[in-house]
Amino acid sequence: MTLFRGPKRNARFSLIHVFFLKFQEMIVQIQILIFLFAIVIFASFTVAGGKMGRIARIFRSEEYGEEFKNYLIARSNLKDHGPKKYAELLKQFHSFTSSSDDKIYAFLRANAVVKPDGASHGPKLKKLMKIGIRGKKILDIGTEEISYLNDLEALGAMAFGINIRSEFGHYSNFDESDKRFLYYDGISIPFENESFDVVTIFSVIHHIPPQKLQPLLVNIFRVLKRDGIVFVKENDLSEKIVGQMFDIQHEIYEGAIFPGKPFYRNSKQKISEIIREFERAGMTLVEEEKIENFTRISYLIFRK
Ligand SMILES: C[S@@+](CC[C@H](N)C(=O)[O-])C[C@H]1O[C@@H](n2cnc3c(N)ncnc32)[C@H](O)[C@@H]1O
Repeated sequence: MTLFRGPKRNARFSLIHVFFLKFQEMIVQIQILIFLFAIVIFASFTVAGGKMGRIARIFRSEEYGEEFKNYLIARSNLKDHGPKKYAELLKQFHSFTSSSDDKIYAFLRANAVVKPDGASHGPKLKKLMKIGIRGKKILDIGTEEISYLNDLEALGAMAFGINIRSEFGHYSNFDESDKRFLYYDGISIPFENESFDVVTIFSVIHHIPPQKLQPLLVNIFRVLKRDGIVFVKENDLSEKIVGQMFDIQHEIYEGAIFPGKPFYRNSKQKISEIIREFERAGMTLVEEEKIENFTRISYLIFRK
């Protein structure tokens, strides 16, 4: 009996054994396949994605029109070389824009011209002249250029400027002994209550994290005299493509022109939300001018 049954049991056992071995083999094969697949995915991300990078991808993307791409390059201030050189640089730029971010950044670093001090004061000063600033005391929040305070003084105002002490400190061309300019913590404005007729704040709000905006606005309200004015310049980024462009523009500045200076930016900010925040802090919108270009600039005037 045992002799007869023995081989049958063995046969069943070896069948299960073979099946088990095959199963184990299959598991190993699947593991190898998963491993190879992971390598391919990783390599394609590093070679194609990582190397090509975000800026390069933008220039390759169909989502952005030529006008948009050229705008980005122009924003990198290649234009300031003059029309002939700009055309030449643009051609060169387009020849490698879909290769890698490193190349793009290196090119911009070598060829971009940082706007001269005071280059963008014109429209703001015009508006301030309309508001009337002779004999008025003005505080600028987020001041970078000494020439802005000089221009205000030339128009008969008494001007002061403050900026947050940050990695962008090098942007401010103030001598720390200049009594008109102070660094502060970004919220607690270092001046007495009701000491200013006008507060200006240009292209700063998009660098303020939303939770810190209201405390700053409460401080602006505090230092404003009764009937005092706040003059704001900001971008409306409610349209996705405008927010993306804004993002890239900052990436070009921070990645290419001033590398290693990451700075908070709110690429989704809406002018309607900014207005709501000012109103919440007790100020009333009295004028709004929208500039219908790519950057969706809005000039806002509030009264206390
Ligand atoms: C895009 S620049 C604008 C500079 C200048 N106002 C102009 O219109 O040319 C943004 C500036 O905002 C400053 N900034 C960011 N957060 C701030 C805050 N909480 N208070 C004051 N300035 C701030 C930055 O240091 C930087 O100088």
